Amino acid sequence: MGNAFFKASGLNVKYGDIQVLWDVSFEAEKGEIIALVGSNGAGKSTSVKTVAGLIRHTSGSIVFDGNEIPGGNARAAIDAGIILVPEGRQLFPQMTVYENLEMGACSKMAESKKKETIEKVFHWFPKLKERRGQMAGTLSGGEQQMVAFSRGMMGLPRMLIMDEPSLGLAPNIVDDIFRIARQVAEETGLTILLVEQDVRKALRLANRGYVLENGVVNITGTAEELSNNEDVKKAYLGF
Ligand SMILES: Nc1ncnc2c1ncn2[C@@H]1O[C@H](COP(=O)(O)OP(=O)(O)OP(=O)(O)O)[C@@H](O)[C@H]1O
Ligand SMILES: [Mg+2]
Repeated sequence: MGNAFFKASGLNVKYGDIQVLWDVSFEAEKGEIIALVGSNGAGKSTSVKTVAGLIRHTSGSIVFDGNEIPGGNARAAIDAGIILVPEGRQLFPQMTVYENLEMGACSKMAESKKKETIEKVFHWFPKLKERRGQMAGTLSGGEQQMVAFSRGMMGLPRMLIMDEPSLGLAPNIVDDIFRIARQVAEETGLTILLVEQDVRKALRLANRGYVLENGVVNITGTAEELSNNEDVKKAYLGF
């Protein structure tokens, strides 16, 4: 795939003198759901923060829909339609559900469609409509993740990055959120980049995946290939 819709090629990233990503490459077609999986500290969040312009790479490139995304420029990434739902959700706990959603309308276009998008969100997650006036900090973990996902959708993403959405949540809640994510991807051509430590959960949603180990992509394949890969089974699926 020479001209994938999204393509990160040969990313090298350092924190100070310490290099944590080594020639990391991954790509996605429009409407595809890909997963970046790996253990604690493998470099998953660093990879997606780099794509979202929160960290500058020292070499490599990020190309999205034919345009190069400059390193370390979050505004440029957002304006291109790359929206990150961060690890740990990062809601504003003292603001209501509704106010948190409004904060997600982070571009001129998103701002102009805010009311419409909130209606979509309330259609996907009726529970958030019921709880629109509740402080986000008092929601359950599952409800908070629904708000985090929805706040990301408020930015009208063309590629949505979800960093560890399943962390600490009951399987049925994860399934609810993944079902909506898949439905949106199918209906709108949204591309999704999913980060998960839990490989089993990730492969329930993603079409393809990349296994990151110590800052290097070591294994890649379709969800089915990864599920049947002996190394993946031993290291990540508990066989
Ligand atoms: N701001 C930072 N400054 C220095 N080192 C950092 C910083 N952020 C991350 N690191 C280091 O970079 C490496 C990769 O971290 P990263 O957060 O990308 O891992 P991860 O795969 O997302 O892990 P987890 O699954 O635990 O979230 C780790 O060794 C981490 O300690
Ligand atoms: Mg992380």
